[in-house]
Amino acid sequence: MPRWLLYVILVAVIASFVPIALIARARSVPSDAPRIQPVQDMGNQPKFKPQSENLLFADTRAMRPAIPGTEAHGGSVPDEAYETGKVNGQFVADVPVKVTEALIRRGQERFNIYCSPCHGFAGQGDGLVARRADQLQEGLWVPPTNLHTLQVRQRPNGHIFNTISRGLRTMPSYGAQIPVADRWAIVTYVRALQRSQHANPEDMPAEHRVPAGWQPAPENPPPPPAPVPTPGGAPAAPGTAPAAPAATTPTAPAPTATPAPPTK
Ligand code: HEC
Repeated sequence: MPRWLLYVILVAVIASFVPIALIARARSVPSDAPRIQPVQDMGNQPKFKPQSENLLFADTRAMRPAIPGTEAHGGSVPDEAYETGKVNGQFVADVPVKVTEALIRRGQERFNIYCSPCHGFAGQGDGLVARRADQLQEGLWVPPTNLHTLQVRQRPNGHIFNTISRGLRTMPSYGAQIPVADRWAIVTYVRALQRSQHANPEDMPAEHRVPAGWQPAPENPPPPPAPVPTPGGAPAAPGTAPAAPAATTPTAPAPTATPAPPTK
C-alpha cells in the first residue's frame, strides 16, 4: 500500500468522528436556537401566540382588540330591546319575541322553578319561602310582591323583564340563572297569570259563556228543623214527621241576601 493512501484513510477515520461528536454535543447541551429540520413539513409554523409581543403595532400587543361592530360567530345580533328590555332608556311595552303557546308554557315551567318559591304558584306572593318567613316572624322580611296588584299589572313588559334580569329593591337578580329567552318566556307567563285573575267575560270561548238572562240557581231551601224530643216520650222515630217546633226552638235563619260573588 502506498504511504499516501494510508494517510488518506487515517484522516477519513478521524473526520468520521466529527459528525458523531456534533450530534452528541447537540443532544447534551441545551440551546435556544430552533432545531435543524432537514424536512420542514409543518413542524415549524410561524405565528404569534396569545399574550405575546409584536413590534409591528405601536402598543406591541400581538393580540389585537376586536374591530368595532365585530360579531361573535354564531352569536346573536345585539338587540337592545331583547337583551335589556329597554330602548333609549325606556322600558319596552311589547315582548320583543313571538308569543306562542309553547313560549308561555316554557315560561310557566321556569316561573314554577324560579319564582314560585317566593311569589307562589299563582303569583300572589304566598310562596313557601314567604310563608315560612311569615311564620318565623323575625322582622326585616320584605314580602314578595303580589303580582296581581294594579301596579305590577300596569308595568311595561320590559320592566318585568328588567326585574328578573337585575332584581328590584330587595328582590335578587335572576339574570345569572335565567337566560334572556327564558326571561321573556316568564314575562309572558306572568301576564297569563295576571289575566287569569282579571279576566273579562269575552276571554271565555263563546260556548262556555253564561247566556244572557241567566239567573243563579235558587238558594238551598232551609234545612228541616231538628227533631225535638217529645216531652216524656221517646224521640220521634226516624222517618216520622217531626213534631211542630216548640216556640223556644231556634229556627235556622232564612237566607236573606245572596252571598257576594268572590272578588279574587
Ligand atoms: C327570593 C324570593 C324571590 C324570588 C325567587 C323572586 N322574587 Fe320577585 N320579588 C321578591 C320580593 C321580596 C319583591 C318585593 C321587592 C321590594 O319591594 O323590595 C319582589 C318583587 C317582584 C315584582 C314586582 C316589582 C315591581 O314592579 O314593583 C315582580 C314583577 C317580580 N318580583 C317578579 C319575579 C319573577 C318573574 C320571579 C322569577 C324569575 C321572581 N320575582 C322571583 C322576591 C322574590
